[in-house]
Amino acid sequence: MKKLSARRRHPLAAVVVLLFALAATGGLYAAFAPAGTAKADETAQSLAIEEGKKLYSVGCASCHGTGGQGTSDGPSLVGVGSAAVDFQVATGRMPAQQPGAQVPKKPNIYSQAQIDQLAAYVASLGAGPITPTESQYDPAGADIARGGELFRSNCAQCHNFTGEGGALSNGKYAPSLEGVSPKHLYEAMQTGPQNMPSFPDTTMPEQEKRDIIAYVQAVNGEKADNPGGLSLGGLGPVSEGLFAWVFGLGALIAVAVWVAAHTAKAKKS
Ligand code: HEC
Ligand code: HEC
Repeated sequence: MKKLSARRRHPLAAVVVLLFALAATGGLYAAFAPAGTAKADETAQSLAIEEGKKLYSVGCASCHGTGGQGTSDGPSLVGVGSAAVDFQVATGRMPAQQPGAQVPKKPNIYSQAQIDQLAAYVASLGAGPITPTESQYDPAGADIARGGELFRSNCAQCHNFTGEGGALSNGKYAPSLEGVSPKHLYEAMQTGPQNMPSFPDTTMPEQEKRDIIAYVQAVNGEKADNPGGLSLGGLGPVSEGLFAWVFGLGALIAVAVWVAAHTAKAKKS
């Protein structure tokens, strides 16, 4: 006892204790830290799923079933993936309200954090398209001309040449793409909502989707400030042709009538 207390009072005792404490802390940290952060991620993820499940049972289960298996009022959500949830809820399509030919876009009632939780829960039911990250959908530096070609061959038959939108059969319609965010453009291509076909990465790689997004943004910007003058609604050759027929031909007829009227008058006098 006496020996120990004597050693404790040794001038180096404090330094030794400090070094020992530092080594112990470092060692403990090294032993537990990586496992600790992985575990923290896991708990955050399962917490999101749990919160998402609560939101889901209040807002979605009545139509999609308590476990996402689907009911007569809504399809199964097993395997639709987080991207479909992010698109459907963030554009306000879901939760759907009244039955109709097509579920319309409307103001979104959830925060992005809640949407992420709903998406985490639905993704936990079965693997599907994952919500894209900004580097996937950011159109900066993409090829607008190539995007235009891709848009005309894949999208224009429904959405029109510059994404004005158009009617489909049975009361369905392809909406205008004006003001749709790059993320939602990407997700729509990934998941193919309602009557739209999907364009998965296997048939349309990420870069092509970015080119299309760049094109859609470019023509939308152009509408606000059209360098060619009147845009004619951006409807392409049909409206341009109609313009030529109605106004071009109309002007010719008017001139012909005017000339005829004046020659008649000239003859009389
Ligand atoms: C009133 C019933 C109703 C409610 C409530 C509802 N949905 Fe839907 N949901 C539907 C119907 C119907 C469709 C199918 C629309 C279609 O494809 O024509 C659908 C489609 C979806 C899809 C697309 C599935 C796919 O195959 O791509 C997702 C994702 C979805 N709902 C998520 C949700 C979420 C999340 C909620 C809760 C916030 C919700 N829904 C609430 C009726 C509902
Ligand atoms: C067969 C017709 C068809 C084709 C082809 C098609 N779409 Fe669609 N698209 C639709 C329909 C119908 C909707 C509406 C779906 C809904 O409301 O859930 C839609 C919705 C969208 C939306 C959501 C718009 C919004 O207001 O939230 C985007 C974005 C979109 N399409 C982009 C594209 C792009 C890009 C292509 C080409 C790669 C494409 N679509 C090809 C029919 C089509």
